[in-house]
Amino acid sequence: MPRLIIRNLKNTEVYVEINQYVLKALQAQHIDWMQACGGKGRCTTCAMQVIEGQASLSVPTPREQHWQAQKRLKEDERLACQTTLSEDCVVVVPAKYQLPHLHYSE
Ligand code: FES
Repeated sequence: MPRLIIRNLKNTEVYVEINQYVLKALQAQHIDWMQACGGKGRCTTCAMQVIEGQASLSVPTPREQHWQAQKRLKEDERLACQTTLSEDCVVVVPAKYQLPHLHYSE
């Protein structure tokens, strides 16, 4: 099963089932993650910056393409609520979407 490794959150490893959205896997494993719109692709607050394993991510959805065109999502960022994995990847939580009660290393 692919792993999402969250580098700036103590290298936390989250197992993501094939065809499972990353946000659902985070929730299933009780990892707090910002998600203002509840996983509908409407807010970008669930963004993750991909450090390694870009090719193992699903193709950007129309919602992600919309936010990329609006410059609300950078080229190396993906929405956790829209993305699935086929292999391991390494991400960081962007500073603007870090939760105040968690301790991030970068
Ligand atoms: S939770 Fe709002 S875009 Fe993912």
